[in-house]
Amino acid sequence: MNPVDNPYRPGAGRRPPLLAGRASLLDNFEVVQTRAEVRGEGDRSWVLNGLRGVGKTVLLGELFARATARQWIAAKIEVGASGPLPAALSRALTASMRRATGHHPEARLRRLLGVLKGFSLRVDPTGAFSVGVDVDAVRGIADTGRLGDDLSGLLEVMSETARDLGIGVLILVDELQEAPEESLAAINTAVHHLGQLDPAPPVLLVGAGLPSLPAQLADATSYAERLYEYRNVGLLDPGAAREALVVPARDLEVEWNPDALEAALDVARGYPYFLQAIGKHVWDAARTDVIDADDVEVGLEAARQEVDDGLYRSRWERATPAQRDVMRALAHLGGAEPAPVADIAVAAGKARTSDISVARVELIKKGLVYAPERGLLAFTVPGMHEFVARQN
Ligand SMILES: Nc1ncnc2c1ncn2[C@@H]1O[C@H](COP(=O)(O)OP(=O)(O)O)[C@@H](O)[C@H]1O
Ligand SMILES: [Mg+2]
Repeated sequence: MNPVDNPYRPGAGRRPPLLAGRASLLDNFEVVQTRAEVRGEGDRSWVLNGLRGVGKTVLLGELFARATARQWIAAKIEVGASGPLPAALSRALTASMRRATGHHPEARLRRLLGVLKGFSLRVDPTGAFSVGVDVDAVRGIADTGRLGDDLSGLLEVMSETARDLGIGVLILVDELQEAPEESLAAINTAVHHLGQLDPAPPVLLVGAGLPSLPAQLADATSYAERLYEYRNVGLLDPGAAREALVVPARDLEVEWNPDALEAALDVARGYPYFLQAIGKHVWDAARTDVIDADDVEVGLEAARQEVDDGLYRSRWERATPAQRDVMRALAHLGGAEPAPVADIAVAAGKARTSDISVARVELIKKGLVYAPERGLLAFTVPGMHEFVARQN
């Protein structure tokens, strides 16, 4: 079929044609938005945690779009992508205020703009602060140099402004597991501060990251467990996986034959990235507007290639020989499940668990594996164990 019309979108952060299986989370967000607008009240902040390729970034993008569509103050950053976290946050918030000055009366934004300018000059002295309005920096609220306190002060003023305007504030932080502990502690401090205010301010922070993120937040400050609503972003259930393949095709008057669909779903196992990769390559392989089992067979081969090249191989090639030994042992012992570090050491031919410590820590830093619990190790990418098992 014509690749030009291909609706499927494999690849990091690419919006799928249908955001399948996430209705309850989006419904909850709708409630948060309405409560903020109607009552000026907020709720607990969220942490979205899950493996790579399950759709966390896409969800953040959707929340951002929904917030900006309703003229909210909304900022989105990816940790590590554009410099240190405080400066990145300052720039994203500045951009959000530039948008806000186009929608809301300037007089009601001035105090916040001044406080944000103070914050921005402090954390990002070389950056240009430009919100389209000339304001003086407000001193003493968000420019102490202690990030936790400054964020608390800034977000409090933001929430007052938002309440006054009948909107809310949304702050999205992707790849939060990459943030240094001091940044995590500062974010916890600010969220904790907001949580103490009564009524609860209409600010929602949503952090997304690997399954290790809840434990990292808890290590940064002891009270983090109660600060956030933790939401696991997981594989799609069978009904949602089916919709993810069928609906985008049907919208273009293309049908999947039942046996073709079952074969594709079997391989995808509900993993959103696989669904998009399979959908894309099967579409390109299909000869008519009814996709059959033969098209799936050809498409799957290409999809496997894409996933190997796009997801697994680069990760494997970044690993040193010692790190590969650990991954092989993990693939062999745990497969898709976590395995005990002690057993991995033995399987890798080591005398002591500590003999694989360096490799283990480096693999975690590279985001290839994570510790679902102390003493355990698991892959961050679904299907990585099968790829590793095929390498020699
Ligand atoms: N709910 C969903 N339904 C269908 N496909 C999805 C869904 N969420 C994400 N995808 C697809 O999965 C892939 C990975 O999404 P991404 O947001 O980058 O994952 P993560 O940030 O968790 O690594 C993309 O190709 C995206 O189009
Ligand atoms: Mg992502």
